[in-house]
Amino acid sequence: MDCCAHCAATGQLFGPKVAEGDLRRYRRKGPNPTTRLILEELRRRPLDGAHLLDVGGGIGVLGLELLATGIGGVVEVDASPAYLAVAARQFAERGWAQRAVLVAGDFAALAIPPEPADVVTLDRVVCCYPDFEVLLKRAAGRTRRLLALSYPHDRWYVRGVMALENLWRRTTRNAFRSFVHPPARLADVLESSALRRLARRGNAFWAVDLYERWDGPPPP
Ligand SMILES: C[S@@+](CC[C@H](N)C(=O)[O-])C[C@H]1O[C@@H](n2cnc3c(N)ncnc32)[C@H](O)[C@@H]1O
Repeated sequence: MDCCAHCAATGQLFGPKVAEGDLRRYRRKGPNPTTRLILEELRRRPLDGAHLLDVGGGIGVLGLELLATGIGGVVEVDASPAYLAVAARQFAERGWAQRAVLVAGDFAALAIPPEPADVVTLDRVVCCYPDFEVLLKRAAGRTRRLLALSYPHDRWYVRGVMALENLWRRTTRNAFRSFVHPPARLADVLESSALRRLARRGNAFWAVDLYERWDGPPPP
């Protein structure tokens, strides 16, 4: 699937109804479990004034939560225009429109990637993308300090659920597919980009890893 097809399929799955539903759930229950774990791990580190690059940030929860506790700004890149529209509304309602830059597109294929940031996040995004190596390499190259990601465990029941979801999408002619990528390969890509793992959290379905840069600045 090329990048335009990826954005079209992603926009089809994460459309306005799903985006508004996610917003209602966030207002009722707060951040979802993987977002909570990422926030817990990031907040153990000093973040005052830090800049966040949130790849596939959806309705913008990581940016909203971290701006509320002192980061300087957020750039969110997302393939779904409906999610970005909800995120833009949320940042504006809190008076943070000037501190949030929203970029539409496939992060792995943007002609001009965003500037490096102190913190890069990919919360439940790697599983949306077939070529995780390209996506993660680019994300790793954009962080000055920390990178947090969540991804599905490579376990039989996780694969089963995803296979059923993909079968349903195929049947209903929805081109979006989700993927269980091998965790060791995800780690290889990040570690070969001069990142090392600081923490691993998770639940029965999802793993959450936090990495830090440890070998000088990212490549230009
Ligand atoms: C499952 S949602 C997760 C949203 C949010 N991070 C969260 O955890 O609530 C996946 C998000 O990743 C976005 N996405 C998927 N592939 C992407 C890509 N290559 N570039 C940018 N955004 C992408 C989708 O549009 C969607 O907003």
